[in-house]
Amino acid sequence: MSTDLKQKISSKKARVAVVGLGYVGLPLALSFAEGGFHVVGLDTDQDRVNLLTQGKSYITDVPDHELRKLIQKKRFSATTQFDVLANSDVIIICVPTPLKRKYTPDISFIVGAVRTVKEFLKKGTLVILESTTYPGTTKELILPELEKSGLKNGKDFYLAFSPERIDPGNKKYHVTEIPKVVGGLTPEAGELTQTLYGSVIKNVHLVSSAEAAEMTKLLENSFRIINIGWINEVAIMCQKLGIDVWEVIDAAKTKPFGFMPFYPGLGVGGHCIPEDPLYLYWKAKQYGFSSKYIKLSADINSQMPSYVVMRLGEILKKHKKSLKAARILVMGVTYKKDVKDLRKSPSLKLIELLKEAKTKVDYYDPLIPYLKIGGLQMQRIDLTPRTVAKYDAVVIATDHSEVEYPMVLKAARFIFDARNVYGQVKDRKKIVKL
Ligand SMILES: NC(=O)c1ccc[n+]([C@@H]2O[C@H](COP(=O)([O-])OP(=O)(O)OC[C@H]3O[C@@H](n4cnc5c(N)ncnc54)[C@H](O)[C@@H]3O)[C@@H](O)[C@H]2O)c1
Repeated sequence: MSTDLKQKISSKKARVAVVGLGYVGLPLALSFAEGGFHVVGLDTDQDRVNLLTQGKSYITDVPDHELRKLIQKKRFSATTQFDVLANSDVIIICVPTPLKRKYTPDISFIVGAVRTVKEFLKKGTLVILESTTYPGTTKELILPELEKSGLKNGKDFYLAFSPERIDPGNKKYHVTEIPKVVGGLTPEAGELTQTLYGSVIKNVHLVSSAEAAEMTKLLENSFRIINIGWINEVAIMCQKLGIDVWEVIDAAKTKPFGFMPFYPGLGVGGHCIPEDPLYLYWKAKQYGFSSKYIKLSADINSQMPSYVVMRLGEILKKHKKSLKAARILVMGVTYKKDVKDLRKSPSLKLIELLKEAKTKVDYYDPLIPYLKIGGLQMQRIDLTPRTVAKYDAVVIATDHSEVEYPMVLKAARFIFDARNVYGQVKDRKKIVKL
């Protein structure tokens, strides 16, 4: 059975279905299509499918012309009709894995997707989960659900996990340039998955189990949340000691080994770093183990917006102004530089906290013309010297490239620079750094 599938994969005749066409699923689906496979993308969101069918991408890293080219070549199509899964040889699941509460995973999207896959699963299919999740999900959750179809793992179908490592906004590493880790529930599943990804991705690393592959992703993302938490703590310490943390990081990174720079900011955002490590935290708790590093860094990062509000309050006080009487402009509301993604953005938390303090707050972001999220309904200001000059303080929250920082500096009364965009400016009268 697996020889047939292996041949289909090697000759690129295998039909690939990608379930969930978001930041991860869409670029992945198009990479397979570009690599010569016939790919169908499935999503429950009809609006997204409509846009894709019209050749319009909603993901910054996926240009419309690339999408259109693959649609015209009939290598890619998008649909909400899940019965197409019955014609697929490979099914890759890329649905969201958010949190239900602060430290509790919400695996309902995976469960929903797998239930649908089960309905249409046919003999000889390879199913791969890409969504980031706690170790054991593939074996404990997906396997029993798929076997409810009456088909047997390892005999009738193959199941594997392969974490997505995409870095939105990163122009250097396209999906196909990032080495891929794969782990199967059976050796055959691992090998098939390795062959599949190896046909479009340069470097594939096979591990011995799906759990090892699941844990690899969580090690990587926990490494980031912990180091970001640590550098944010260092930034707070440095401020107390009167030392410029940015200068210290620049100096430390001259060491050619044993140090990797991380930078402070308003915390962490997006769908991955604030949430994935908490999947591991939750799973370890089931085994009676509490990860102190993950919890501590998650807590430090989530307190950064409050810390910035506290600093702003202190600085304004020196200028005989209160937060309540002040007008503040927040620059950059997405969670990451040059990425149009507001999910879990700490800038939004900052705006909420300022509003709670009764500050008059506005925002500017070149990528976000208006905000309609949670309790926030705002329109970005026009960024001109006249408008900037109206604010008591400008906070550089996210450092998008497409902003005229020299103009802002010239026009602003005072700047709180949380991203060190003015690191090279000599005259620091108006600038306070995080
Ligand atoms: N965004 C990233 O940078 C990134 C990087 C690596 C890994 N991941 C992980 O990849 C997974 C997907 O993340 P994302 O950022 O692409 O999410 P996303 O929200 O951008 O996209 C998920 C898509 O899945 C669709 N969906 C939900 N339930 C579905 C179902 N039952 N069937 C079909 N479609 C369904 C949604 O409509 C949405 O379009 C998550 O586990 C995430 O942690 C994300």
